[in-house]
Amino acid sequence: MSGSLKGSDIVSIRDFSREQIERVLEVAEKMVPIARGDEKSSLLEGRILGSLFYEPSTRTRLSFEAAMTRLGGRTLGFDEPRGSSVAKGETLADTIRMVDAYSDVIVLRHTQEGAARLAGHFAEKPVINAGDGAGQHPTQTLLDLFTIRKEKGGIDGNHIVIVGDLKYGRTVHSLSEALSMFGAELTFVAPPTLQMPQEHIKHIETRGIRPKISNSLEEVIAEADVLYVTRIQKERFPDPAEYRKVAGAFTIDREMLRDASDNLVIMHPLPRVSEIDPEVDLTPHARYFDQAFNGVPVRMALLSMVLGGIE
Ligand code: NCD
Repeated sequence: MSGSLKGSDIVSIRDFSREQIERVLEVAEKMVPIARGDEKSSLLEGRILGSLFYEPSTRTRLSFEAAMTRLGGRTLGFDEPRGSSVAKGETLADTIRMVDAYSDVIVLRHTQEGAARLAGHFAEKPVINAGDGAGQHPTQTLLDLFTIRKEKGGIDGNHIVIVGDLKYGRTVHSLSEALSMFGAELTFVAPPTLQMPQEHIKHIETRGIRPKISNSLEEVIAEADVLYVTRIQKERFPDPAEYRKVAGAFTIDREMLRDASDNLVIMHPLPRVSEIDPEVDLTPHARYFDQAFNGVPVRMALLSMVLGGIE
């Protein structure tokens, strides 16, 4: 991608420069009053978002739809492939060709890593990756960065501890790569079998960041500025017995937060299962619901930049 995002596919966070990310976050900031419904906009009036979800979603799908609607545009698509011709055996390429003809921008969530990149080859309209298997989730990363910047006043120099399923979790693949671009200090906490894949660690190291690896949250929590918690990705385990071995490996509760800094911010892309006890919701650390709201202004920014409403 060059400077402008107009007409670009958004497939991986690696496609962005630091300047492009900063511009998206700046535009997102201006979108907040519209995202809240306090101001009106017709920036994307007459534009259509094709929304194709081959995997379950609540926040990503609905916040994209909210973003498009708040800007005066419309959404069409499916929230599970069973009700579409995918169930008759239609290929991804053909489905994409059709939606390409019916819409101005395509948002795709798929079970297979690389699906969004492939879709980009078959679509003339921009394709936005809303999660491809255990691959990447770049729009989640943009809203995560927006949240960290807002809560911490910046990203550089903050110590971000990322805990949970770092092997299959696509949000943390994109996020850790982006954080390294911004000079954050990184610690990865996971059971050894679910640690961050080497491919991502190598990429992070090319940015001059050497992440710490740990399997004990207790040992690192006191030094964290941000704790980014993730769900064990049950649906990606080839063997249910392997999942059972690590299920419930980490649970954040009040007791666990005893040594945490007063300013610790806890984030989670959601949905959570049991990794954050609901009692944590009442502490001043919890930011995951604000984080989920931030998906609306950030996706508004992205849609308006990709569709060319805003440079
Ligand atoms: C995540 C995803 O789908 O990767 N959810 C989201 O988009 N907010 C995280 C998850 O499912 O655990």
